[in-house]
Amino acid sequence: MNTEIISITDKNPQESALARAARIIQSGELIAFPTETVYGLGGNGLDAEAAHKIYAAKGRPSDNPLILHIAFPTDAEKYAEVSPVYTLLAKAFMPGPLTVILPKKAIVPRSVTGGLDTVAIRCPSHPVAHRLIELAGVPIAAPSANLSGKPSPTEASHVIRDLSGRIPMILDGGSCEIGLESTIVKIEADGSLTLLRPGGITYDALCMVVPKVKVADAVTKQLAENERPLSPGMKYRHYAPTAPVVLLDGAPEKVLSFLQDEQKKRACAILCYMEELDFLTPRLLFPVGGRNDLKAQAQSLFRCLREADLSEAEIIYAHLPVQTGMGLALYNRMIRAAAHTVQQIS
Ligand code: TXA
Ligand code: MG
Repeated sequence: MNTEIISITDKNPQESALARAARIIQSGELIAFPTETVYGLGGNGLDAEAAHKIYAAKGRPSDNPLILHIAFPTDAEKYAEVSPVYTLLAKAFMPGPLTVILPKKAIVPRSVTGGLDTVAIRCPSHPVAHRLIELAGVPIAAPSANLSGKPSPTEASHVIRDLSGRIPMILDGGSCEIGLESTIVKIEADGSLTLLRPGGITYDALCMVVPKVKVADAVTKQLAENERPLSPGMKYRHYAPTAPVVLLDGAPEKVLSFLQDEQKKRACAILCYMEELDFLTPRLLFPVGGRNDLKAQAQSLFRCLREADLSEAEIIYAHLPVQTGMGLALYNRMIRAAAHTVQQIS
């Protein structure tokens, strides 16, 4: 299949290209498009066949459900049983990087929800995503637009590498602002929230709106073999480069001197902080951002992981993130990329 790539920017809004993309969605085919979190691989969310095509294009197991993207927060009512807590969350965080799990209505095919009775709803703030959904006139089911097992794409070039030849069109909207996938919460029967995946909306921000928020164990811990995760996606090994990833924990100067020694011994890729650049040999360095700039680190993490994975490195070192604010989302992605391998440096 020939994949058309169309650049859409503020200066070049390309309304006619968006209308064409919307018609492709309506016809049951797939489009990759930018969102404020990561690129999505979208199809008509009410069409079971389109969902099958998404699973096939990504090489994804079909029991791992898709997120239904809507143009306006109130559209959720058409596809799910909304509750007062949903309305509170929507007022506070939508459009934006929040996905809410709700009981599904019959109109949503089971192939979209991986056979579950619940559906994941998200209203993206990215203008291209918003306009595409609006023009399509249907909700857009979309997982991240990477091949299963690769990091989520944060630039069109990542999507092109993974999906070129597999889908008819990729909309290039430049780099994604947040760089990590949306925060996912489930509204429990008692109105409390369970945080299933941390992202751009932080735990603290959720607590300001809903008094009781529980972090699911799988966010920070490794599940035992027999444990069933609350979200099917949690059981898959995600975001893992071919070379082993090791997270380093310890005092900054100790970690830096460990890295300096390692650089003399082997071809190691290092996802380093800006402050460390002057003290390390330039080879195979992938600066993720300033030590305390969690926003920059989130934005560049997946790009750095992809680049490190393409390099000749035999091992990839990165810093163990903090678990506060945006750090929790970074921690969750990194600990999976590293298959929970943390090395203490003392
Ligand atoms: O930021 C994002 O959320 C991006 C952009 C494209 O919107 N999408 C994304 O989709 O990350 P995906 O498919 O890569 O991740 C969705 C996660 C999966 O781990 C899946 O298991 C979980 O959401 N999920 C979807 N529906 C669910 C449900 N009904 N119950 C529990 N978890 C669900
Ligand atoms: Mg994904």
